[in-house]
Amino acid sequence: MPTKHQLEQRKRNEAKAKVHTNGKGQTAEPTAGKGPLIQALRGFKDILPSETKYWAFVTRVLDDIVLENNFLRIEIPMVERVDLYRRSVGEETDIVRKEMFAFTDHDHNVVSLRPEATAGIVRSYIQHGFKTYPKPLKLFTVGPMFRYDRPQAGRLREFHQCDFEIIGAKRGIVDAQLMKIGWEILSRLGLKNISLMVNSVGCPVCRPQFEKSLTEFFRAKVRRLSPESRTRLAKNPLRILDSKDERDQEIAKEAPQIVDYLCEECNDHLKKTLEFLDEFEVPYTLTTHLVRGLDYYTRTVFEYVTGGDERAQNALGGGGRYDALVERLGGESTPALGFALGLERVIVKMHDDGVEVPPPPKPEVYLAQLGELAKKMSLKLYQELHAAGLRVTESFGKNSIRAQLKHSDRVGALLTVILGQKEALEGTIIIRNMIDGVQEIVNVRDVVAEVQKRLEAIRHTNHGGNEMRAKLPDEEPEEG
Ligand code: HAM
Repeated sequence: MPTKHQLEQRKRNEAKAKVHTNGKGQTAEPTAGKGPLIQALRGFKDILPSETKYWAFVTRVLDDIVLENNFLRIEIPMVERVDLYRRSVGEETDIVRKEMFAFTDHDHNVVSLRPEATAGIVRSYIQHGFKTYPKPLKLFTVGPMFRYDRPQAGRLREFHQCDFEIIGAKRGIVDAQLMKIGWEILSRLGLKNISLMVNSVGCPVCRPQFEKSLTEFFRAKVRRLSPESRTRLAKNPLRILDSKDERDQEIAKEAPQIVDYLCEECNDHLKKTLEFLDEFEVPYTLTTHLVRGLDYYTRTVFEYVTGGDERAQNALGGGGRYDALVERLGGESTPALGFALGLERVIVKMHDDGVEVPPPPKPEVYLAQLGELAKKMSLKLYQELHAAGLRVTESFGKNSIRAQLKHSDRVGALLTVILGQKEALEGTIIIRNMIDGVQEIVNVRDVVAEVQKRLEAIRHTNHGGNEMRAKLPDEEPEEG
């Protein structure tokens, strides 16, 4: 006899199995099909074909910037040991404390999906003896990162970053150069109203004194701080400056400022960096409360934010100098710096700003086929047209000529080449001009040249065929 508790539990399980979660949950939506629909996990997003033109445009701009600035591309693993992130990003950061997709693998290694790329790149730099490379070594990567935070607008659990790192450079001019690269990317993508916030977080020489003063300041006001910031006070007082809680922000306005505590070297570095930013004509705001959510930074830190909102939740990107990190991860002391942009946020901003992305080029030729023999010959023909450098498309799965012509029209092809059963037997092929509807029969051996000739003529007279297209025949022509 089941106990009352067991019965209740059973009921709950049954209810759970039946429940159709509302999209916030993981799986079940009622569908027209047999089983419940499996949805993507919360915080994970499909990038649908309607969006990919934006991604392609971002990729084109990044490729140009990488080439122009002599960055070398690197790919690092998606999974690394958790210890790597503990030692680099920092034990007490939100990323490491709360947001890692960590698990133990079958070999009992405690690993995590990468929450960011800098740690992996520096690990790779040390592991593969890159120190012998001429300096500075400029590395670039782009790809998905994973953080198990509460999903909301602009915050995903899987998101993409482009990441630029410069290893082996210590002068402020390089800090400015790097910030200019980020600025340039955002400008070329057509984003408006972006601000660059810059600050210095000092170094192991001067920061402890600042942290001490900051702790004393906040301790005196501890009761007014948010619960989260009270915890931060003991372990990471700098992070209170970055709190999104209005109570904390109000108090932080009066807090000591790091610029008053910088040692001579850090002060000089900041001054030089800002001078070079002026020189490079990159507009910035010296934002003395700016700190970052990762512990590896020394000296320069910066963020790109929208609309001049210095306390924006959703920075488009950020970075800074991490002069101690290479050594901390077991390499030789090497100054370094870098930044990452969050590509989903960048693309949302492109939409907000109404950025027009040139659509991908339309196919020039559509290959239609009718009947078995024609179908068999079509694949080779398709390859031939493709090999000649033509943008060609088809729908081998369709049989009706009307459906294929309709498809050709929808994809915007200028010509349709039609291989019917009769043509296949005779060694001919029909070329239909989709603009004026004129059809001509040519020898199949000459198809590439004939197509090229007609495309040339269309481009000449029709400026690419963007005007009125010929009406499609109503009647289904005879097959073969
Ligand atoms: P981060 O500030 O943590 O820095 O991330 C850079 C950018 O990634 C953010 O400004 C944001 O646009 C995007 N991002 C971060 N988390 C999310 C999320 N949950 N959803 C959507 N977008 C997000 C770093 O990751 C450093 N590794 C940057 C760096 C490179 N510093 C030196 N080198």
